[in-house]
Amino acid sequence: MTKTITAQVSVFAEITPTPMDPVLASIEAFAADPRPDKVNLGVGMYYDESGKIPRLRVVHDAEVLIARNPAPYGYLPVEGTAAFRSGVETLLFGVGHAAVADGRVATFQALGGTGALRVGAEILRLLKTSGVLALSHPTWPNHPVLFGAAGFEIATYPYVDPATGGLMFDRMLAALATLRPGTVVLLQTCCHNPTGVDLDRDQWLRLADVLRAGSLILFLDLAYQGFADGIDEDAWPVRMFAESGLPLFVALSFSKSFALYGERVGALCIVTASPREVSLVSGQAKNIIRAIYSTPPTHGAAIVSTVLNSPELGELWRTELGEMRDRIKQMRLGLVEALKTKGLNADFSFMQRQRGLFSYSGLSAAQIDLMTRGHAVHAVRDGRLCMAALNRHNLPRVADAIVEVVRHAP
Ligand code: LMR
Repeated sequence: MTKTITAQVSVFAEITPTPMDPVLASIEAFAADPRPDKVNLGVGMYYDESGKIPRLRVVHDAEVLIARNPAPYGYLPVEGTAAFRSGVETLLFGVGHAAVADGRVATFQALGGTGALRVGAEILRLLKTSGVLALSHPTWPNHPVLFGAAGFEIATYPYVDPATGGLMFDRMLAALATLRPGTVVLLQTCCHNPTGVDLDRDQWLRLADVLRAGSLILFLDLAYQGFADGIDEDAWPVRMFAESGLPLFVALSFSKSFALYGERVGALCIVTASPREVSLVSGQAKNIIRAIYSTPPTHGAAIVSTVLNSPELGELWRTELGEMRDRIKQMRLGLVEALKTKGLNADFSFMQRQRGLFSYSGLSAAQIDLMTRGHAVHAVRDGRLCMAALNRHNLPRVADAIVEVVRHAP
């Protein structure tokens, strides 16, 4: 029998209900859907052709190596192991980058990309910033919440033109040029979440001029390295900014690129002006990490570190990541062709130009709701579709669902 406790003053009764993060809402709705043929285009995860989250061969091989010489699960250093951190720096900046060679980079293991963003946000709060963080509109829904929780006031800059699906680069630059000095500007390095629309190299260079002129601080979120053009190609903006002399924060995630979602492996890299600044930043960062979760977890980082420090495993990882990237591109093409074949008047060819896991489809919340109710096809209500969850089996059903909602719903 349930007993209701009637306390005189309940500490919980006055909690203000808050709307749920739209990605989490879609995860929960999918889990609660009893239909066996349901399709999950909601959460940003890569699924293979059989509809499963892959266990990469490279992860398996690294685990075999680790198991051969098992280390005790002691506490790691607060900043992560030296092998993990140097592997991350080579991955991100390339071999022999001057910023690393000059000792200007501080690197910390983090709890996924989200953990790296949050620790970075806490460090930024200790610096002389304007207290404002500028985000693209739209962006990943957790960005404003996470930086808001760290005490930042949130501003937005224009990003994608809803009419064309293209980048509004000039409007974006004009908006950034009006920001107060010391404002932190967050950009996604590649595979922009949720739009799939990225800057090209020329645009990154022009952006660097605006950041320098406005004394703005750049925070790059790199959650999808390797899913746009390749591991090194996708890191190009990081390498360019690290040479530019501007301060730089980078949040790196291995969740997608190693399919290690639940292991929470990521890294925060901060490019400073000198080894002395690295030492100052490191002291603060260690205290911040210590106060939140004390020390980082061992297993996932050991896998990543083993791979990043082995030429053979590194090569296998590049191959498998390339296979994931190519499969998503095939699915994009397949969906665009299927929609054309079904005689849809609306042009969806923009989906092929978008990069990474997501397509910003332009479907309205009402159309997404209808797709979910009528076809068991789940997606985020802002119209974001996870193309990495398509396969040859579910693609025709998804295409049918899109055709129906476009024809029949507002
Ligand atoms: C997403 O955007 O779906 C992923 O980054 C997963 C998440 O935690 O939101």
